[in-house]
Amino acid sequence: MDARSLGELEEIRIAYLGRNGRITKLVKNITSVESSERKSIGLLLNDTKSTMLSLLKEKENKLREGENTQFDPTLPGIKKELGHTHLVTQAINEISEIFENIGFRRLRYPEVEWDWYAFGSVNFGPDHPARDEWETFIVDNKPDKEMGQMVLTPHTTSGQVREMKRLGPVFSEPIRMINISKCYRRQSDASHVPMFHQFEGLVVDRGINITHLKGTLDYFAKQFFGPDRKTRIRPYNFPFTEPSFEVDINCGICEGKGCKVCKGGWHEIGGSGMVHPQVLKNGGIDPNHYTGFAFGWGVERVFLMKEGLGINDLRTMYSTDLRYLKQF
Ligand code: DAH
Repeated sequence: MDARSLGELEEIRIAYLGRNGRITKLVKNITSVESSERKSIGLLLNDTKSTMLSLLKEKENKLREGENTQFDPTLPGIKKELGHTHLVTQAINEISEIFENIGFRRLRYPEVEWDWYAFGSVNFGPDHPARDEWETFIVDNKPDKEMGQMVLTPHTTSGQVREMKRLGPVFSEPIRMINISKCYRRQSDASHVPMFHQFEGLVVDRGINITHLKGTLDYFAKQFFGPDRKTRIRPYNFPFTEPSFEVDINCGICEGKGCKVCKGGWHEIGGSGMVHPQVLKNGGIDPNHYTGFAFGWGVERVFLMKEGLGINDLRTMYSTDLRYLKQF
């Protein structure tokens, strides 16, 4: 007997193995068999039963496969899942575009870098106490006499003097760099990951002053966070800028009045300042003729702020859990 459909197959199963099926009946009547033969007949029946079951299963699979390959144009289509860029890549693309629209160029500099570019050139002496705050991974290489040890860049500020050297000392176009790269620090807890991203702006030209910095920061805040957002700057201290500022952005929920989320109307967002004359000199640029501003912020940080996400653990941003990633 050959079944052509799942229904026919089921009929066969019932005929042999159902409650009144032929095999079932034989099993039920086993007691009427001579006791000397009962064992061998019992074994034979069991064998037959399990062979039948596996044949039925095999046939069922075949029939189901056949069912699936038949094209039914009346059924709704199966949508293929589409992937998308990772949330950090999305943020990087958006940040690049915002700055490129006002003449910045996106550049990248080495992530395995000499101590000189990461620290020395941006005004950290060899024993500068602020080095501790940058919790740096040091590469186990033979130090260079002038450049020092190699490190994994702990901040994008290490691109500043490289960029000055690329364009200076008398440049035909102003420096307008946006350096977006990976940064590495020896830290891992709920609010820190050992690898993260920063974006570093650097502008150097004749006559650059704090108003240019403030205007650029406000422009970015409006473009990235929304037209009602603005920034404020507070005095701070960084070795590579003088004066230095910490930048805050007004809270998007209470618009600066103060609420549970921001506690005071403002969110701290990153550092900035006027490029220290010594840093310009290290880049071969004459600080008597040129001035500049710089800022360096975390990509993950601005992304979380924009989304207003209460992510308690920054490490989830780097998880591979699609349920999380699909939301962005
Ligand atoms: N490099 C600093 C950091 O990693 C951020 C920073 C602050 C960069 C001020 C700047 C700046 O260019 O002017 O914390």
